[in-house]
Amino acid sequence: MQILDGKLAAQAIKDALKLDVAQRSNEGKKIPHLAAILVGNNGASETYVAAKVKACEETGFKSTLVRFNSDIDELTLLEEIDNLNNDPDIDGILVQLPLPKHIDAKKVIDAISPNKDVDGFHPASVGKMVEGLPTFIPATPYGIMLLLKHYKIDTKGKHAIVIGRSNIVGRPMSILLSGNSNPGNCTVTICHSHTTNLKELCLQGDIIVAALGIPEFVTADMVKPGAIIIDVGITRVEDSTRKSGFRLKGDVAFDQVAEKTDWITPVPGGVGPMTIAALMKNTYQACIENN
Ligand code: GUN
Repeated sequence: MQILDGKLAAQAIKDALKLDVAQRSNEGKKIPHLAAILVGNNGASETYVAAKVKACEETGFKSTLVRFNSDIDELTLLEEIDNLNNDPDIDGILVQLPLPKHIDAKKVIDAISPNKDVDGFHPASVGKMVEGLPTFIPATPYGIMLLLKHYKIDTKGKHAIVIGRSNIVGRPMSILLSGNSNPGNCTVTICHSHTTNLKELCLQGDIIVAALGIPEFVTADMVKPGAIIIDVGITRVEDSTRKSGFRLKGDVAFDQVAEKTDWITPVPGGVGPMTIAALMKNTYQACIENN
């Protein structure tokens, strides 16, 4: 068993970006500027957005955090996106999800200018990704692809089982892994809550991407020996021994699964840091393309 160390790979990506940004700055060129919108005070969202802002600082990017109370009306949010779309200093815009129920998240995502859509959730970005054209790829699946690349994992011809069909992770992951570049060229099975023979399918997986949000769902009896396991889960579970009062649990029962695998991502320190690094890469790309 070997660890796919997302912290290490993400650091390498951020270090390379930092050099690129410093060079741009020396040449008098614009440096990347990410705008993040956070609505309400969901604890997990607060943590994720803070990590994104911190990564900007570490990498030499500018960042702007726009905060709204959870009772903000949809129109005000759409107006803020319009302002950011029209602000030439802003290269990338992300709206942290989930949004409060009274706001139509699709309307909000669709309002982001596709050339600033660093989350890759806009239909124009999704359409390009499906066609295999260059575009912004959603940060979590993009980060996973970068992690596989960093460790030179040969995915060609492998059977990948993706558990979860969200627009943020599972669905784009299935598209990328089935794509015709490397990493990719996999045969992909996408599983979800209506899949009837999940265990049998998982046992066929050379690669399993667990992105369903149920802690320790994937157990050793579901995993083929020598499989590659990517754990996207980051559920907070109570832990009174921690200062924070919680700890993170993945969708994979790491302790029992790890010894059966060839490669596995830990939680934390696997996919999470790669998501941030991928967002940084998208924002840098937006800066280059928009200026
Ligand atoms: N919520 C969970 N994951 C993500 C993400 O990648 N981007 C945004 N904007 N919100 C999220």
